[in-house]
Amino acid sequence: MPEIIEPFRIKVVEPLTFTTPDERLDILQKAHWNPFLIDAEDVLIDLLTDSGTSAMSNYQWAAIMTGDESYAGSRSFKRFREKVQEITGFKHVIPVHQGRAAEKILMSLVGGPGKLIPNNNHFDTTRANVEFTKAEAVDLVIDESKDFDLDHPFKGNIDLEKLELFLLQNEGNVPIGMITVTNNTGGGQPVSMENIREVAWLLRKHDIPFIIDACRFAENAWFIKQREYEYEDKSPLEISQEMFSYADGATMSLKKDGFGNIGGFLALNDDALADHARNLLILTEGFPTYGGMAGRDLEALAVGLDEALDEKYLAYRAATTRYLANHLLETGVKVVRPPGGHAVYVDAKRFYPRIPPAQFPAWAFVCQLYLKGGIRAVEIGSVMFGRCVEGVEHSADRELVRLALPRRVYTQAHVNYVCETIAEMYRERESVTGLEITKQAPFLRHFTAELAPL
Ligand SMILES: Cc1ncc(COP(=O)(O)O)c(C=O)c1O
Repeated sequence: MPEIIEPFRIKVVEPLTFTTPDERLDILQKAHWNPFLIDAEDVLIDLLTDSGTSAMSNYQWAAIMTGDESYAGSRSFKRFREKVQEITGFKHVIPVHQGRAAEKILMSLVGGPGKLIPNNNHFDTTRANVEFTKAEAVDLVIDESKDFDLDHPFKGNIDLEKLELFLLQNEGNVPIGMITVTNNTGGGQPVSMENIREVAWLLRKHDIPFIIDACRFAENAWFIKQREYEYEDKSPLEISQEMFSYADGATMSLKKDGFGNIGGFLALNDDALADHARNLLILTEGFPTYGGMAGRDLEALAVGLDEALDEKYLAYRAATTRYLANHLLETGVKVVRPPGGHAVYVDAKRFYPRIPPAQFPAWAFVCQLYLKGGIRAVEIGSVMFGRCVEGVEHSADRELVRLALPRRVYTQAHVNYVCETIAEMYRERESVTGLEITKQAPFLRHFTAELAPL
């Protein structure tokens, strides 16, 4: 058997743009050495994100034609709600336009000064929405997650001892507890069912509602099936149902395991909290039976949620990240191990050991990846998380490059091309220099920063 067999055939194609190395140098220079500022049509393979970039199936496109665009009480909403309830079991399903809208509504209701919200690792938008209310977002992931070479099966787990102590020390100030599956910020690493169960138990002991950030719940369910012995005979749907059964609600961006180009939901069991959430929804998103989405989106997502739980698809998905990670490791490139569900993270500090963090080795990697192969990836290093204070650079603790794989978009041949490009970069790594920032914004500087090679 080949390592990857795509469980689909291709009916509609989207042509890719090929550029020459000279053209790419010109494009990158005009973009001030910031891949975020490159036009998408100048990119051959776009691994910037897996969010909203999925290819929809023929069944999803067919469902789009059945969308009911009624303002209130649409058939499409009922279908969507039924599917979300089948998977999660939550009483109230509140549709929103994407994950952060669910976070914004939830945090507006439970956050506030003096409050603390624990998670394995908060994703940036979750953290931002917590902090916007003046509450504190606290990361309690296990220490093993910080060792990139350690092959731990569930590096997304919460440290239960830390959580217990945290809950005792902050009694009365913890409005909700969260867990993110899979843990995007920590490398797309899964959380075990055992950990979810124990976290739920600890939170319940302190009477604190448990909310799952469920963006990649299906990928997490697949890892549980593969790595947690008692679940090997259970379906991804059954595993997901059990995961959600321990929680009191969920936020979800359906741009990931919903196969949507847009969409999300906030789901809750508590009637009063759900009522408040719907009131806020009406203020900014829309009426409770469409939230921030069109009826056709709701239809496509109801189908997408089913397809994300398909075993053949999940096996192919995990095989793709594993294949990419293993080929890079064979070349000598260090990646975060084991590979997560949606992305492979390259350790740029060890790829370019001669480039100090203050000269942005991971940023140098993403620039070289574009120059060499027209491939776009994202830096998770000192441009994204470092700070410039009075002209002095304070570097981040890691210099990673995330190669995120859009769902059902690229074939094994594309992945081979990515491996070959990185192998060539590895052979030529001694000749690459770092960069300096020539212009930056005070917040989230990576999106708009201008840089120049040294
Ligand atoms: C774990 C996690 N939570 C929340 C979000 C936010 O979702 P959205 O981009 O749909 O607002 C993301 C998006 O990447 C994510 O990965």
